[in-house]
Amino acid sequence: MWHPNTQMKEWDSFDEIVRAKGMWLTDSNGNNLLDGVASMWCNVWGHSKPELVNAITKQSKKLQHSSMFNLTNEPAEKLAESLVKISPGMHRVFYSDNGSSAMEIGFKLALQYWDNIGEKKKTKIMTLENGYHGDTFGAMAVGYVPEFFGKFKKQLFPTIQIPVPNKYRIPKGYGYSDYQNFCVDKIEDKFSKDDKIAAFVMESGAQVAGGVIIFPKEFQRKISKLCKKYNVLLVLDEIATGFGRLGSMIQYTEQKSIPDIVAYGKMLTGGYLTMAATLASKKVYDSFLGEFNDWKHLFHGHTYTGNPLSAAVANENLKLYQKNSLIKKFKKHQKFLKSIMIK
Ligand SMILES: Cc1ncc(COP(=O)(O)O)c(C=O)c1O
Repeated sequence: MWHPNTQMKEWDSFDEIVRAKGMWLTDSNGNNLLDGVASMWCNVWGHSKPELVNAITKQSKKLQHSSMFNLTNEPAEKLAESLVKISPGMHRVFYSDNGSSAMEIGFKLALQYWDNIGEKKKTKIMTLENGYHGDTFGAMAVGYVPEFFGKFKKQLFPTIQIPVPNKYRIPKGYGYSDYQNFCVDKIEDKFSKDDKIAAFVMESGAQVAGGVIIFPKEFQRKISKLCKKYNVLLVLDEIATGFGRLGSMIQYTEQKSIPDIVAYGKMLTGGYLTMAATLASKKVYDSFLGEFNDWKHLFHGHTYTGNPLSAAVANENLKLYQKNSLIKKFKKHQKFLKSIMIK
């Protein structure tokens, strides 16, 4: 095997995980390892949760996979309905298998939206410096991390990058609050001078892979207001920050910034099977409707799009959030943690 982000020369062998329960992974020597990264921040309930395992088993006896090309399946339909219900402003769900793909779909939806409505000059993407949206080409271009993606710089499409107010990296001569205003003013300045900007893409609530930079209060709301004022689509990435990771089920509700497009992944299936979703507003969705020969439809589709096993476990996962009042519990713990936080 060839392992991700790994200099293989440094490794002779890897610890083999043979089973897991709750927060613990067990290796082939019988050692228990604490799964402190929640298996790349996607595991919600711990491993081997009976309800989630049963949801997969039950579905696997009925339908394991069938294509979404001109067909549908009940678990995927049910999940789409639930996701739209919990996502204010969203109207339709497009499924994929991983967060990077969900973001690529978000970029394609945003760019094609303008083309579909005849605003062909709107082709540029603006984003925040230091963001991360995945490892595929579009995601690398938008969430450019020089150390990771420098080798491909020449092949990446250009984006407009705006600085981020990182409390611990404020340039000399600015206070935290001045610098927030500087970043927001910079966005407004660019929006007002460039009518080719199609979309503003950002992680919702915080930049996670980029160093866990929690956005200051109002920052995201101000950006969303500017997007509306200057007719730019807002594309949010909630792959790492939604589903309670920052304390709210849907982080953009907390940030008071309803997007045009949003992507979910990681925690969607509780960390059990691979699935991601890109949700779009009615305005975006409607622009893709027309006669077949108008060629307005979205040319995108993965083999495993809307996989019924993934959808079944995601449905059970959402049920567990409700049943256990998980978000309410987070809020309670959040209050306590804030009270003991060192200022
Ligand atoms: C904010 C964000 N977006 C996108 C992705 C990419 O998701 P995936 O690894 O499922 O492709 C990640 C992964 O860590 C992420 O943190």
